Amino acid sequence: MIMGFRESFERGLAKQLARPSGRRGALTGMLLNRRNEQLITEAIAALDLKPGAVAADIGFGGGTGLGKLLERVGQSGTVHGVEISDAMLARATRKYAWAIDAGTLELHETSMSQLPLDDASVNGAITVNTIYFIEDLKRAFTEVAGVLAPGGRFVIGMADPDVMASMPVTQHGFTVRPVDDVIEALRAGHLELVDHRRCGSGWRSAHLLVSTPMA
Ligand SMILES: C[S@@+](CC[C@H](N)C(=O)[O-])C[C@H]1O[C@@H](n2cnc3c(N)ncnc32)[C@H](O)[C@@H]1O
Repeated sequence: MIMGFRESFERGLAKQLARPSGRRGALTGMLLNRRNEQLITEAIAALDLKPGAVAADIGFGGGTGLGKLLERVGQSGTVHGVEISDAMLARATRKYAWAIDAGTLELHETSMSQLPLDDASVNGAITVNTIYFIEDLKRAFTEVAGVLAPGGRFVIGMADPDVMASMPVTQHGFTVRPVDDVIEALRAGHLELVDHRRCGSGWRSAHLLVSTPMA
């Protein structure tokens, strides 16, 4: 009975993390913002964006990355927020109405694998804790490579695969890949790894993979 409850809780949580929805989605958004703030902050720092730049947060969840990117690019820049979750899009629409009205934030209901952005238009894109939910990484990364401007950066934030594999929640629909497989998928998608940093300390620390389109 207790096992049944635990498993159903873990399944529910996994579903929310993959695509927050309904009333629990709001709670998930807040939880994501709190838990992932450090990794998101470091991912954005690795983009090295200048004021006026065009940036994107793909799978922005609770939306803390959107706010930080808006600060970075300033009033002359543009931030694109990409999400598949209605609940997260609705939350960001409310929270950042001022930026949408000012034309500095554009939200897109779509997947990383189908970006409605102009080719070679984005100076920097992050995606944090999303790749576990994407089946065909090569396809998604090829799409990202296509919208990045020459010299633009794409930063993936991901938890350590060993840590992920030890978490019961990841047994429910997550794809946990070795870091080398993610780097290989970047290459297959025409993105070259230029830096691999850790965020946090010790073996549990998360990974930041910084890449740029191949010439
Ligand atoms: C675990 S949350 C991470 C959210 C946020 N990046 C963070 O670090 O707090 C994963 C998010 O990715 C979104 N997502 C999942 N698959 C996606 C895809 N194929 N394209 C874009 N977003 C996706 C989900 O809706 C969810 O909001």
